[in-house]
Amino acid sequence: MREGTGVGAFNVIQLEHIEAVVTGAERAGRPVILQISENAVRYHGALGPTGLAALAAARAASVPVAVHLDHAESAELVAEAVELGLTSVMFDGARLPYRQNVAATAAAVTLCRSHGVSVEAELGEIGGKDGAHAPGVRTDPAEAHAFATATGVDALAVAVGSSHAMSTRDAKLDFGLIAELRAAVPVPLVLHGSSGVADEDLVRAVAAGISKVNIGTQLNRVFTRELRARLDAGPELVDPRKYFTPAREAVTEEVARLLRVLAGGGRT
Ligand code: G3H
Ligand code: ZN
Repeated sequence: MREGTGVGAFNVIQLEHIEAVVTGAERAGRPVILQISENAVRYHGALGPTGLAALAAARAASVPVAVHLDHAESAELVAEAVELGLTSVMFDGARLPYRQNVAATAAAVTLCRSHGVSVEAELGEIGGKDGAHAPGVRTDPAEAHAFATATGVDALAVAVGSSHAMSTRDAKLDFGLIAELRAAVPVPLVLHGSSGVADEDLVRAVAAGISKVNIGTQLNRVFTRELRARLDAGPELVDPRKYFTPAREAVTEEVARLLRVLAGGGRT
Protein backbone atom coordinates (compact mmCIF):
# COMPACT_ATOMS: atom_id res chain seq x y z
CA MET A 1 0.00 0.00 0.00
CA ARG A 2 2.87 2.35 0.89
CA GLU A 3 4.69 1.59 -2.37
CA GLY A 4 1.54 1.83 -4.46
CA THR A 5 2.07 -1.67 -5.81
CA GLY A 6 -0.01 -4.83 -5.52
CA VAL A 7 1.00 -8.00 -3.76
CA GLY A 8 -0.12 -11.29 -5.31
CA ALA A 9 -1.92 -13.70 -3.01
CA PHE A 10 -2.11 -17.08 -4.70
CA ASN A 11 -4.35 -19.95 -3.66
CA VAL A 12 -2.45 -23.18 -3.19
CA ILE A 13 -4.01 -26.62 -3.12
CA GLN A 14 -1.06 -28.99 -3.15
CA LEU A 15 2.69 -28.99 -2.64
CA GLU A 16 3.46 -28.29 -6.30
CA HIS A 17 1.45 -25.06 -6.10
CA ILE A 18 3.34 -23.99 -2.98
CA GLU A 19 6.69 -24.65 -4.65
CA ALA A 20 5.65 -22.88 -7.85
CA VAL A 21 4.39 -19.76 -6.06
CA VAL A 22 7.53 -19.40 -3.96
CA THR A 23 9.87 -20.02 -6.90
CA GLY A 24 7.82 -17.63 -9.07
CA ALA A 25 8.13 -14.90 -6.42
CA GLU A 26 11.88 -15.48 -6.19
CA ARG A 27 12.12 -15.29 -9.98
CA ALA A 28 10.28 -11.96 -9.99
CA GLY A 29 12.13 -10.70 -6.89
CA ARG A 30 8.80 -9.83 -5.25
CA PRO A 31 7.15 -10.66 -1.93
CA VAL A 32 4.17 -12.99 -2.12
CA ILE A 33 1.29 -14.43 -0.11
CA LEU A 34 0.57 -18.16 -0.10
CA GLN A 35 -3.05 -18.69 0.80
CA ILE A 36 -4.94 -21.82 1.75
CA SER A 37 -8.72 -21.60 1.57
CA GLU A 38 -11.22 -23.30 3.84
CA ASN A 39 -12.31 -25.23 0.72
CA ALA A 40 -8.73 -26.50 0.22
CA VAL A 41 -8.62 -27.50 3.90
CA ARG A 42 -11.86 -29.43 3.37
CA TYR A 43 -10.34 -31.14 0.31
CA HIS A 44 -7.39 -32.41 2.37
CA GLY A 45 -9.46 -33.04 5.49
CA ALA A 46 -7.08 -30.93 7.59
CA LEU A 47 -5.09 -27.70 7.55
CA GLY A 48 -1.93 -29.23 9.02
CA PRO A 49 -0.21 -30.91 6.06
CA THR A 50 -0.50 -28.04 3.55
CA GLY A 51 -0.22 -25.36 6.24
CA LEU A 52 3.05 -26.74 7.58
CA ALA A 53 4.42 -27.31 4.07
CA ALA A 54 3.60 -23.69 3.18
CA LEU A 55 5.24 -22.41 6.36
CA ALA A 56 8.39 -24.46 5.65
CA ALA A 57 8.54 -23.16 2.06
CA ALA A 58 8.02 -19.59 3.31
CA ARG A 59 10.86 -19.89 5.82
CA ALA A 60 13.24 -21.23 3.16
CA ALA A 61 12.39 -18.54 0.57
CA SER A 62 14.77 -15.73 -0.40
CA VAL A 63 11.87 -13.23 -0.65
CA PRO A 64 9.27 -12.37 2.03
CA VAL A 65 6.45 -14.95 1.98
CA ALA A 66 3.35 -14.80 4.17
CA VAL A 67 1.07 -17.79 4.78
CA HIS A 68 -2.60 -16.85 4.96
CA LEU A 69 -5.85 -18.70 5.67
CA ASP A 70 -8.35 -17.71 2.96
CA HIS A 71 -12.17 -17.51 3.16
CA ALA A 72 -12.53 -19.04 6.60
CA GLU A 73 -16.13 -19.11 7.74
CA SER A 74 -15.32 -21.26 10.76
CA ALA A 75 -14.00 -19.58 13.92
CA GLU A 76 -12.48 -22.96 14.93
CA LEU A 77 -10.42 -23.06 11.74
CA VAL A 78 -9.19 -19.50 12.38
CA ALA A 79 -8.03 -20.60 15.85
CA GLU A 80 -6.32 -23.66 14.35
CA ALA A 81 -4.49 -21.50 11.80
CA VAL A 82 -3.27 -19.16 14.54
CA GLU A 83 -2.10 -22.16 16.56
CA LEU A 84 -0.26 -23.61 13.55
CA GLY A 85 1.67 -20.38 12.95
CA LEU A 86 -0.03 -18.78 9.94
CA THR A 87 0.51 -15.03 10.02
CA SER A 88 -2.81 -13.81 8.66
CA VAL A 89 -6.35 -15.04 8.14
CA MET A 90 -9.40 -13.97 6.21
CA PHE A 91 -12.52 -14.29 8.29
CA ASP A 92 -15.32 -14.42 5.73
CA GLY A 93 -18.58 -13.31 7.28
CA ALA A 94 -19.93 -11.92 4.00
CA ARG A 95 -22.88 -14.32 4.07
CA LEU A 96 -23.93 -13.06 7.49
CA PRO A 97 -26.27 -10.12 8.07
CA TYR A 98 -24.23 -6.91 8.61
CA ARG A 99 -24.42 -6.82 12.44
CA GLN A 100 -23.51 -10.50 12.78
CA ASN A 101 -20.64 -10.04 10.32
CA VAL A 102 -19.33 -7.16 12.48
CA ALA A 103 -19.62 -9.21 15.70
CA ALA A 104 -18.04 -12.39 14.30
CA THR A 105 -15.24 -10.45 12.56
CA ALA A 106 -14.48 -8.43 15.70
CA ALA A 107 -14.24 -11.69 17.68
CA ALA A 108 -11.77 -13.08 15.12
CA VAL A 109 -9.74 -9.84 15.36
CA THR A 110 -9.58 -10.13 19.17
CA LEU A 111 -8.30 -13.70 19.00
CA CYS A 112 -5.80 -13.03 16.20
CA ARG A 113 -4.48 -9.75 17.55
CA SER A 114 -3.31 -11.39 20.77
CA HIS A 115 -1.13 -13.68 18.62
CA GLY A 116 0.17 -11.01 16.24
CA VAL A 117 -1.91 -12.41 13.38
CA SER A 118 -3.59 -9.96 10.99
CA VAL A 119 -7.18 -10.29 9.81
CA GLU A 120 -8.80 -9.64 6.45
CA ALA A 121 -12.59 -9.48 6.29
CA GLU A 122 -15.16 -9.12 3.53
CA LEU A 123 -18.01 -6.72 3.08
CA GLY A 124 -20.40 -7.02 0.13
CA GLU A 125 -20.49 -10.52 -1.28
CA ILE A 126 -18.07 -11.26 -4.12
CA GLY A 127 -20.04 -13.68 -6.27
CA GLY A 128 -19.00 -17.01 -7.64
CA LYS A 129 -17.99 -18.91 -4.53
CA ASP A 130 -19.88 -22.19 -4.23
CA GLY A 131 -21.87 -21.15 -7.28
CA ALA A 132 -23.43 -18.15 -5.55
CA HIS A 133 -23.37 -15.28 -8.00
CA ALA A 134 -24.14 -11.78 -6.88
CA PRO A 135 -22.95 -9.66 -9.80
CA GLY A 136 -24.88 -6.55 -8.78
CA VAL A 137 -23.63 -6.37 -5.21
CA ARG A 138 -21.01 -3.70 -4.50
CA THR A 139 -19.33 -2.58 -1.29
CA ASP A 140 -20.65 0.77 -0.07
CA PRO A 141 -17.78 3.14 0.94
CA ALA A 142 -19.54 4.58 4.00
CA GLU A 143 -20.48 1.13 5.23
CA ALA A 144 -16.92 -0.10 4.54
CA HIS A 145 -15.53 2.74 6.66
CA ALA A 146 -17.93 1.93 9.51
CA PHE A 147 -17.18 -1.80 9.22
CA ALA A 148 -13.39 -1.36 9.27
CA THR A 149 -13.62 0.98 12.26
CA ALA A 150 -16.06 -1.22 14.21
CA THR A 151 -14.11 -4.46 13.68
CA GLY A 152 -10.48 -3.28 13.71
CA VAL A 153 -9.57 -5.43 10.69
CA ASP A 154 -6.18 -5.10 9.00
CA ALA A 155 -7.42 -5.49 5.42
CA LEU A 156 -10.79 -5.41 3.68
CA ALA A 157 -12.02 -7.48 0.72
CA VAL A 158 -14.36 -5.39 -1.40
CA ALA A 159 -16.94 -6.22 -4.06
CA VAL A 160 -16.10 -4.00 -7.05
CA GLY A 161 -17.13 -6.11 -10.04
CA SER A 162 -14.97 -9.22 -9.94
CA SER A 163 -16.38 -12.68 -9.37
CA HIS A 164 -14.75 -15.91 -8.20
CA ALA A 165 -13.70 -18.70 -10.56
CA MET A 166 -14.29 -16.90 -13.85
CA SER A 167 -13.14 -18.84 -16.91
CA THR A 168 -12.52 -15.66 -18.93
CA ARG A 169 -10.52 -12.55 -18.00
CA ASP A 170 -13.12 -9.94 -18.85
CA ALA A 171 -14.57 -8.82 -15.51
CA LYS A 172 -15.69 -5.19 -15.56
CA LEU A 173 -14.24 -3.50 -12.50
CA ASP A 174 -15.62 -0.26 -11.08
CA PHE A 175 -12.37 1.76 -10.79
CA GLY A 176 -14.21 4.82 -9.50
CA LEU A 177 -15.64 2.77 -6.65
CA ILE A 178 -12.16 1.39 -5.84
CA ALA A 179 -10.86 4.96 -5.55
CA GLU A 180 -13.81 5.94 -3.33
CA LEU A 181 -13.21 2.91 -1.11
CA ARG A 182 -9.50 3.72 -0.94
CA ALA A 183 -10.33 7.21 0.31
CA ALA A 184 -12.92 5.95 2.82
CA VAL A 185 -11.20 2.89 4.32
CA PRO A 186 -8.04 3.19 6.45
CA VAL A 187 -6.71 -0.35 5.76
CA PRO A 188 -5.42 -2.08 2.60
CA LEU A 189 -8.09 -3.21 0.11
CA VAL A 190 -8.24 -6.74 -1.29
CA LEU A 191 -9.47 -7.77 -4.74
CA HIS A 192 -10.89 -11.30 -4.89
CA GLY A 193 -11.68 -13.27 -8.03
CA SER A 194 -8.73 -11.66 -9.80
CA SER A 195 -8.35 -14.54 -12.29
CA GLY A 196 -11.24 -12.94 -14.14
CA VAL A 197 -9.44 -9.60 -14.49
CA ALA A 198 -7.27 -8.75 -17.52
CA ASP A 199 -3.63 -7.73 -16.91
CA GLU A 200 -4.20 -4.06 -17.79
CA ASP A 201 -7.20 -3.90 -15.45
CA LEU A 202 -5.13 -5.42 -12.63
CA VAL A 203 -2.69 -2.55 -13.11
CA ARG A 204 -5.56 -0.02 -13.09
CA ALA A 205 -7.09 -1.64 -9.98
CA VAL A 206 -3.78 -1.32 -8.13
CA ALA A 207 -3.39 2.26 -9.30
CA ALA A 208 -6.91 3.00 -8.04
CA GLY A 209 -6.13 1.60 -4.60
CA ILE A 210 -6.12 -2.22 -4.41
CA SER A 211 -3.18 -3.67 -2.43
CA LYS A 212 -3.74 -7.45 -2.19
CA VAL A 213 -4.73 -9.33 -5.33
CA ASN A 214 -6.17 -12.82 -4.84
CA ILE A 215 -5.57 -15.25 -7.71
CA GLY A 216 -6.55 -18.92 -7.73
CA THR A 217 -8.35 -20.14 -10.84
CA GLN A 218 -5.75 -18.74 -13.25
CA LEU A 219 -3.04 -20.95 -11.70
CA ASN A 220 -5.31 -23.99 -11.88
CA ARG A 221 -5.99 -23.20 -15.52
CA VAL A 222 -2.26 -23.01 -16.34
CA PHE A 223 -1.42 -26.13 -14.30
CA THR A 224 -4.18 -28.25 -15.84
CA ARG A 225 -3.52 -27.07 -19.40
CA GLU A 226 0.13 -28.17 -19.16
CA LEU A 227 -0.73 -31.42 -17.38
CA ARG A 228 -3.36 -32.32 -20.00
CA ALA A 229 -0.94 -31.61 -22.86
CA ARG A 230 1.74 -33.82 -21.28
CA LEU A 231 -0.66 -36.69 -20.59
CA ASP A 232 -2.17 -36.47 -24.07
CA ALA A 233 1.31 -36.53 -25.63
CA GLY A 234 2.56 -39.38 -23.44
CA PRO A 235 -0.10 -42.01 -22.71
CA GLU A 236 2.68 -44.31 -21.42
CA LEU A 237 3.58 -41.89 -18.56
CA VAL A 238 3.01 -43.27 -15.05
CA ASP A 239 5.46 -41.30 -12.87
CA PRO A 240 3.67 -38.11 -11.71
CA ARG A 241 7.01 -36.29 -11.61
CA LYS A 242 7.19 -36.55 -15.41
CA TYR A 243 4.05 -34.45 -15.88
CA PHE A 244 4.00 -32.48 -12.61
CA THR A 245 7.44 -30.99 -13.31
CA PRO A 246 6.38 -29.09 -16.48
CA ALA A 247 3.00 -28.21 -14.94
CA ARG A 248 4.71 -26.77 -11.85
CA GLU A 249 7.12 -24.83 -14.08
CA ALA A 250 4.21 -23.35 -16.07
CA VAL A 251 2.63 -22.13 -12.81
CA THR A 252 5.99 -20.73 -11.65
CA GLU A 253 6.29 -18.66 -14.83
CA GLU A 254 2.69 -17.43 -14.56
CA VAL A 255 3.22 -16.38 -10.93
CA ALA A 256 6.40 -14.48 -11.85
CA ARG A 257 4.60 -12.83 -14.77
CA LEU A 258 1.61 -11.77 -12.67
CA LEU A 259 3.81 -10.42 -9.88
CA ARG A 260 5.65 -8.26 -12.42
CA VAL A 261 2.28 -6.98 -13.71
CA LEU A 262 1.22 -6.09 -10.15
CA ALA A 263 4.57 -4.42 -9.43
CA GLY A 264 4.07 -2.23 -12.48
CA GLY A 265 0.89 -0.75 -11.08
CA GLY A 266 2.67 1.85 -8.93
CA ARG A 267 1.03 5.21 -8.17
CA THR A 268 4.13 7.34 -8.31
O1 G3H B 1 -9.84 -15.93 -2.39
C1 G3H B 1 -9.47 -16.36 -3.49
C2 G3H B 1 -9.55 -15.56 -4.69
O2 G3H B 1 -10.57 -14.64 -4.60
C3 G3H B 1 -9.37 -16.32 -5.97
O3 G3H B 1 -10.37 -16.12 -6.95
O4 G3H B 1 -9.99 -18.19 -8.24
O5 G3H B 1 -11.36 -16.36 -9.17
O6 G3H B 1 -8.90 -16.06 -8.92
P1 G3H B 1 -10.13 -16.70 -8.40
ZN1 ZN C 1 -11.82 -15.02 -2.73
